Amino acid sequence: MNPESATRILGIETSCDETALALIEVRRTEGRFECRIMASLIRSQADLHSPYGGVFPTLAKREHEEHLPILLDQLIEQTRPTGQTEGRFKIDAIAVTEGPGLEPALWTGIVFAEKLAKEWDVPIIPVNHMEGHIVGSLLESDAPTGEWRPLKHLPAPALAFLISGGHTELVRIQAGDGQGAPFAYTVIGATKDDAVGEAFDKVARLLGLPYPGGPRVSLWAQEAREAGLSCPVKLPRPMIHSKDLAFSFSGLKTAVLYALRDAEKAGIADETFKRSLAMEFEDAVVETLSSKLDDALQSVEARALVIGGGVSANSVLRDRFSTLAQKHDIPIYLPSKHVSGDNALMIALAGALRPIHSDKLRAHGTKKLGTG
Ligand code: KG4
Ligand code: ZN
Repeated sequence: MNPESATRILGIETSCDETALALIEVRRTEGRFECRIMASLIRSQADLHSPYGGVFPTLAKREHEEHLPILLDQLIEQTRPTGQTEGRFKIDAIAVTEGPGLEPALWTGIVFAEKLAKEWDVPIIPVNHMEGHIVGSLLESDAPTGEWRPLKHLPAPALAFLISGGHTELVRIQAGDGQGAPFAYTVIGATKDDAVGEAFDKVARLLGLPYPGGPRVSLWAQEAREAGLSCPVKLPRPMIHSKDLAFSFSGLKTAVLYALRDAEKAGIADETFKRSLAMEFEDAVVETLSSKLDDALQSVEARALVIGGGVSANSVLRDRFSTLAQKHDIPIYLPSKHVSGDNALMIALAGALRPIHSDKLRAHGTKKLGTG
């Protein structure tokens, strides 16, 4: 991005089951980044995938293909100056999620971006979805449309904890080289099997709750706590004593399956038992994630903590992570709840933070996040 002058970016996100477009401007004033949101649109397909118990890739692709042009028309209309009935916003570049995500879904966004870039003669910036979740948490996304707001300052080294349906990653953030992106990333911990959001979704299915299960399991857990229930089963806290930063959630999910089977055999698998099991599961996840996060903050000597990904909507986790940040005496940047899930604001912002050297198509290599 050119210092001082504002860069206007269209963001496109289609990595999973949200079709999203956003238009933002970013500028640098006295060395600090400022951003203003001009529009952000998200169309969720969650209800469509619900009967399948997870995201069905070909259905996701079809829905993205259908809704990208509709959302673009809406975005153009929304951002047109009052009184005008024709014309569209001008942009400097298009930022599009290149991965990680579901291949057919990603391609829909990339093909759409390429077609637009050609038609409008603007460059494309490929963006790593997980980097999007990191920088998205630096955005004051509740700011009114069109108002300039500074990005939250991220002192290096910092630590990001990415918790979503596809990832559980601890990422050390260092200052960039001054030439490319403002940050450099190293994955220092990841899951060996299921991601934490995936574990929530699988446990939801076992408990008979529909996809996406995370918010539903969490609601049951909260209600169980409020009702003062106690769970007769103690679930494992996987790898909590492993002395490294690795996670594993598939054993925890299997432990829930066995607990349910045993309860069914004993004739006690009623809804009250299931709610108490949801609470015990959430407690096991919260304890495991917090313990590893505590270790990682210490080893990185982090000066700030960034939380990103859909699971960051979980209130118990938000509270626990905030307490940890307080203990380490560092600021915590949590995404506001309405941008904790997938959105295109974060993709546009990640694209905007990379410098634009030429006004023709170029491909910046993105960092290899999202391998865990
Ligand atoms: O980041 P995201 O929107 O999509 C991916 O990139 O995966 O994350 C979606 C995940 C789903 O697994 C969903 O169940 C989980 O986030 N999730 C939650 C909560 N809200 C969403 N998990 C636990 N508690 C929540 N409140
Ligand atoms: Zn995501």
